Parts: sequence; C-alpha cells; structure tokens
Amino acid sequence: MCGIFGYVGKGQKDVESTIIVGLERLEYRGYDSAGIAIIDDNGNFIIVKRKGRISDLKKALENYNIPPSKIGIGHTRWATHGKVSDENAHPHLDSNNKIAVVHNGIIENYLELKQELIDKGHVFTSETDTEVIAHMIEEYQKYENDYIKSVLYTVKRLKGTFALAILNREYPDMLIGVRKDSPLIIGIGNGEMFLASDIPAILPHTKRIIILDNEEIAILKSDKYQIMDFDGNLKNKQIKEIEWDAQMAEKGPYPHFMLKEIYEQPEVIERNIDKYIRDGEFLLLKDHNLRKLLLNKNRIVIQAAGTSLHAGIVGRYLIEHFAKIPVDTDYSSEFSHRIVDDKTLVMAISQSGETMDTLEGLRLAKKLGLEVLSIVNVVDSSIARESDYVIYINAGPEIGVASTKAYTAQITILLFLALELGYLKGFVDKKTIDYYISEIRKLPYVISSVLYKDTQIQYIAQKFHKHNHFMFLGRGINYPTALEGALKLKEISYIHATGYAAGEMKHGPLALIDENWPVVVINPKTSVYEKTFSNAHEVYTRGGKIISVVSERDEKMKEISQEIIEIPEVDEFLTPIVSIIPLQLLAYHIANLRGCDVDKPRNIAKVITVP
Ligand code: G6P
Repeated sequence: MCGIFGYVGKGQKDVESTIIVGLERLEYRGYDSAGIAIIDDNGNFIIVKRKGRISDLKKALENYNIPPSKIGIGHTRWATHGKVSDENAHPHLDSNNKIAVVHNGIIENYLELKQELIDKGHVFTSETDTEVIAHMIEEYQKYENDYIKSVLYTVKRLKGTFALAILNREYPDMLIGVRKDSPLIIGIGNGEMFLASDIPAILPHTKRIIILDNEEIAILKSDKYQIMDFDGNLKNKQIKEIEWDAQMAEKGPYPHFMLKEIYEQPEVIERNIDKYIRDGEFLLLKDHNLRKLLLNKNRIVIQAAGTSLHAGIVGRYLIEHFAKIPVDTDYSSEFSHRIVDDKTLVMAISQSGETMDTLEGLRLAKKLGLEVLSIVNVVDSSIARESDYVIYINAGPEIGVASTKAYTAQITILLFLALELGYLKGFVDKKTIDYYISEIRKLPYVISSVLYKDTQIQYIAQKFHKHNHFMFLGRGINYPTALEGALKLKEISYIHATGYAAGEMKHGPLALIDENWPVVVINPKTSVYEKTFSNAHEVYTRGGKIISVVSERDEKMKEISQEIIEIPEVDEFLTPIVSIIPLQLLAYHIANLRGCDVDKPRNIAKVITVP
C-alpha cells in the first residue's frame, strides 16, 4: 500500500543508498513503481523514478552521479489513482520543481482541488491524487511566505488518508512528515532523523522511535524535531524503544522472507507460551476490566481481512467450543452491514494493525459505543492504539506478503483466549486446562517435525505445479485451513484455487471435478474425520487427484490419495496450527517452480491502508 521513507543527516551517510535500503524494507507495501528525491548540497533536486521494482530504480540510478547531499525522500508504490507508469511514480513536484512529495494513502477530494489549482495556472504532469499536494503547498506559499503554515493549510484541505514526506529546496535542511490515518514513524538517530511507513525500514539505524498520531506533522532537522497538530500547536511526544532487533527483519540464509517466516513458527509459538502461560494458567485475561467485559457479553463478532479473517474463523470454532459464546466472523469490509448491540464484543484481528478495512470496522464499533478487543502483531499500530484492549501475538516482523507465522500465532492466541474464557465461565475444568497446556507445549516440536517434511512437499509441488486449478477441502475446525491453504496458493502462484467446506462439495462444486483437478483434503484425526473421508471419497470416485494432509498412519486416506502428507496426531483443537504448515510449504514451492516472485506477488500488497 505504498511505502515512504525520508532521511535527513549531516553528511555521515550516503543518502541515496540509505533511502534505497529503507525502500527495500518497505517494498512489501507495494512495488508498482519506485522513486527518490534528493536535495544536493548546492540546493538542486535529483529526482529519479521508475515504473517497476526498486531493482529497476537502482539500475536507473547507476546512470546518475549524485553529488554530496544530506537529505532525501523515497517511495515504493501500490497504484491506486493513475496507471502504473514513470510519470505517476512518486515523488511528485509543484510547478516550479521546488517542492517534492511522496504519499501513502488516497486523497478523496483531489479532483476538485486539482481543478481549483488548474484554474490558478498550475500545470499537472501526472494522473495521481498526490500531485495536488505539492501544487497546493506552492500555491499557499505564494501568499503566506511561510512554508510550515502553507503545509498546515494544505493538509487541512485534504480529505482521505495520507502519510506524507515533503522536501522543499528552499529549506534544504528540513524534512516534513505528515500523518492522517496512514502510518508514519520517526526514527531518532545520532545527528540524523528518519521517516518511514513501518518499523523494519528504520531498524538498521536506530531503535528510538516516535509514532505519529493522526493529524500530526513532524518537522525534522538532523538533530532536532518538532511535532505539531494540524493547527500548529506543538505536541510533546514520547520516544519509544523498539524491542525488535535488526536481524529479525533480515532474510538470513533463506532465499525468501516467506520461507524464513514459515520456519520461524515453532519459535513464535514458544514465545507466546512463555509470555501467556505460567504456573498452569493462561494470562491473557488478567486485566480485570477486560475479563469483566468478556464475561458480560453474549456474542462476539470478529472482523478481519485475508489471512487474519481465516484465523478468526478458527477462533470462532474455538471460542464457541470452549467458552460457549456464539461468534460471527466477517470480512472487515462487510462488517458495517451487520447488527451489533451492547451485548456484542467486537474483536479485530490484524497482523499489521494498519489494514484500513479493519480499522474502519473498529471505528464503527467505537462509534456505536462498543468496546473493542484487538489481536495484533505490530506493537503500537493504529488498530492496537485505537482499541480498548489489545493482545499482541509476538510474531516479530512479518515481511513476506503471504502471511504465515502471524496466522499460526493468531490461532495460538485465540486458542489461549478460548480456553481461559471457558475456564472463567465454568465450562472448562482445571484438568482440561492442564491437559491443553501440556499439549500446547508440544506444539513447537510438532511443527518442527512437519517442517522436516519440506523435501517431500517440494516433490509434490514438482508433480503438481503445472496445474491451473486447485481445490482445498476441510471440515469443522479445518474448514478455515482449506480457505487459508487456497489463499496461500492463489496469492503467490496465481493459480486459481478455491477453499471449500468439504460437506458442501456435493451441493455444486463437485461438478468441476475430473482427473485434471488436484484436490487437497485436510483430514487429520478429528471428530469429523469419517465425514471428511466420505467427502474425499466422492472426489476420488470422480477422478480427482487427492493430496491429503492426515494424521500419521492413516491407511484409509492413503488408499484414495495420490499423495499423502502426514502430520503428528494432535488434539482436534490444535490441528489447524499444524495442518496449515504443509500447505504454506506447498504454496511456496509451487510458486517458486512457476517462477513467481514469492515475497512480492503481483497486484497485491502486504498492508492495505485504503478502504
Ligand atoms: C492484505 C495482505 C494479506 C493479509 C490482509 C490482512 O490483503 O496481502 O496477507 O492477510 O491484508 O492484513 P492484516 O495486516 O490486517 O492482518
């Protein structure tokens, strides 16, 4: 969803490479085009922008000899307004090439502002909404002769969502950052300052950050900063120390972030066990108010997007089973059409904590006077900060666009929550809690043993990667596993894949099945094993090629499967955390074999900050 980066120093760092490395760490947010603007020490702009990846921008930069400089901004784009082209790539400039702007978000009223500026003689060179910002600052500066005031006037006229980084050649030591709804973080270094859409971009330089709140402006110079609201009132902001270390955002020996993150799953679950289980007890609901809130509700609505919604659907099975509270799950983008009353708890689940659809769902709930509990990965993200209660999933930075470790971490937390709530409500006894804690403690080892099957899964991928359609089937608590398995495959390999409730096949989709359809059946030993087996058999009878994910020593499923991936037998309610692992690996290897860019699939982005 566009990544922006800004830097101002005293000459201690090479500005071009600092920006490029920052952008590379934000590339997961969009990769339709990229560009940079640097003010050299003579006050001239060097602007280079290219359609395509940051690697294309880097190639273009080889032809430039950038003079000594101390300040610059950069952008990696996920196109919303205006096609993908060099012209529409950011930064965008005013008429006199004095002001450069990079932007993440959408300016909803840009057409009307553009017309106003055209009427005043401004000439536009792109189709973007962003360009109006540079022209408008220029326009206000004509009358105001005060740059900061001109920025303030401009941002107050913009409707929509925006994080901006702004340079002005007349102020070559000043970098301005603006935030309304789209995230923006300031990194405070030693004689240098950074601006970025997300923490991993700043991590190599400093762990000291300030998170801008909505409607705040940061004025950065190499060794000082000022934060003000849109009315120009100065604000006192707290500096935070980031817990993540720079290595967490590196690929290390892995060829892709996705693979690294798949392999991190045992460690992430271990971390959550350490954090949230002590002396035979779950610790998520220690907060008295949160406990009271949950105990007073008779319905939960989980709203989330993509993979987080699939985790939420697993959560629905868990909470309904252990805590006996009815749970609805909804795409955040559809949540506004639901009925919620004061007996409903709204829960938001989000890896990034910045997904606009989910943030809007949260805001709607708050507007209705409801309290919101969020399950989030990125600490202090917008969703975390706007929620009444937050539970963090401690997955560390997730960079691959396809979410993997965040998914299993989200389910782990939902499992803890369901058990703890069930216990507090009296539906789950201490013996059951002890049993589950001991089973949960085995999970990191169980997942490692599934990761060990990587070579076998690679072989299966080799056999099936040329197929253009896949079906994923699961039932009960592994129905969402089928949805997530299909999502993983389609988003990174561009294969048409559908996740279906196994029992629904006979009501329509079975008509699709012939010998050209690989059908992945998720059927570990659970209470719905026999039923799922029958559904798989219906597929087998029609010639479908079954790849099954089953518990060890399952002879029955073996007979009807072309390929079988065995996972250790675990309690039914833990199966979704284990059964998704082979499907993540299968999607990864198939995408690789098809030559797809696994970490940066076409057309999508990791963090979607537009509604
Ligand atoms: C985007 C990503 C998905 C992700 C979804 C929700 O669509 O491509 O991988 O699941 O957003 O993101 P969130 O950060 O809210 O979990």
